[in-house]
Amino acid sequence: MIDEHILDNEYENYERVVDTERQIYDDVENILRPKSMDGYVGQEKVKDNLTVFMKAAKMRGESLDHVLLYGPPGLGKTTLAHIIASEMGTQIKVTSGPAIEKTGDLAAILSNLNDGDVLFIDEIHRLRHNIEEVLYPAMEDFSLDLILGKGPSARTVQIPLKKFTLIGATTKAGMLSSPLRDRFGVMLRLELYSTEELAEIVRRSSKTLGSEISSDASIEIAKRSRGTPRIVNRLLKRVRDFSSVLGHTEILKEDAELALSRLEIDGLGLDGTDKKLLESMIEKFGGGPVGLETLAATVNEDANTIEDVYEPYLLQLGFIARTARGRVALKKAYEHLGLKPPVKSFEQTSLFDEN
Ligand SMILES: Nc1ncnc2c1ncn2[C@@H]1O[C@H](COP(=O)(O)OP(=O)(O)OP(=O)(O)O)[C@@H](O)[C@H]1O
Ligand SMILES: [Mg+2]
Repeated sequence: MIDEHILDNEYENYERVVDTERQIYDDVENILRPKSMDGYVGQEKVKDNLTVFMKAAKMRGESLDHVLLYGPPGLGKTTLAHIIASEMGTQIKVTSGPAIEKTGDLAAILSNLNDGDVLFIDEIHRLRHNIEEVLYPAMEDFSLDLILGKGPSARTVQIPLKKFTLIGATTKAGMLSSPLRDRFGVMLRLELYSTEELAEIVRRSSKTLGSEISSDASIEIAKRSRGTPRIVNRLLKRVRDFSSVLGHTEILKEDAELALSRLEIDGLGLDGTDKKLLESMIEKFGGGPVGLETLAATVNEDANTIEDVYEPYLLQLGFIARTARGRVALKKAYEHLGLKPPVKSFEQTSLFDEN
């Protein structure tokens, strides 16, 4: 049972509605989470490939190869892991990198898995090194190598494991050690969603929540959701609140506009923090290039958060670019903020070195 007081504080301290990270008030996420591949909107390439791999594994009566899902927060990694287990008709055991503290914890989890079961490790880039070492033989040979005793009398015993499927999820594939990365047979990158896909998610979610919504209202919400299903669902709930209070039986575009302007989310889904970020790049650093750490310190944010949460969408919009020397603000960012771009903008230079 959640202490209501704590809940209140969370609401108070948390203002950023368009944050991609999971928040305490995302409790309906479970209801809105699609349960099958059919209900999982978008990510066509990922779905097509997975469907083939799952079918082949089933035909051969084998377990699915280990899968690494990576991409920014809120794009459906956890959802997809559950769908894979359900389509394979197996159990899923869920844990996360930081939650596994001792090698014994992992050994216990692994030895309790059955044939074909999915072990889902969220934030897999945060696994401790000694724990990763236990995972290598488990992934490769389905065996647990335990060292018994110490010093010269130490010996290794190998305990066979069932043929499970490891599904790892991470927002930072680059932080995975290469031996771990190499042991995944399937690596799938989730991309930001298109407006049409997000509008489709809005329609499905409204139906699940029992609300009617007009087509232009769902597009309006989709346009402002930073390519992210988690945000689209969150904004839908807020817009629905405004619509209900106004006594509308259907969610209208004007409800969406009103709600989103009250929440200070602009036409592209940017909020105050994004603007602060862009303005500092432009005003304090002449449009860049500016290093991530310097930028983070200036806007008083964590560098990791900027990289994971803010940048993917600003990059997709073509507002910023990553260069070898740091981040630069592009012409579109100036225009969106109503500022005059410098005559020689970074688009015309040869600074680019996408990484
Ligand atoms: N393809 C999709 N179709 C419909 N809804 C989706 C889809 N992907 C995600 N969602 C919705 O978005 C919510 C967030 O997705 P999910 O928790 O799977 O993201 P995630 O990638 O695991 O995020 P994190 O990196 O923060 O763990 C889900 O509960 C679901 O409601
Ligand atoms: Mg997740």
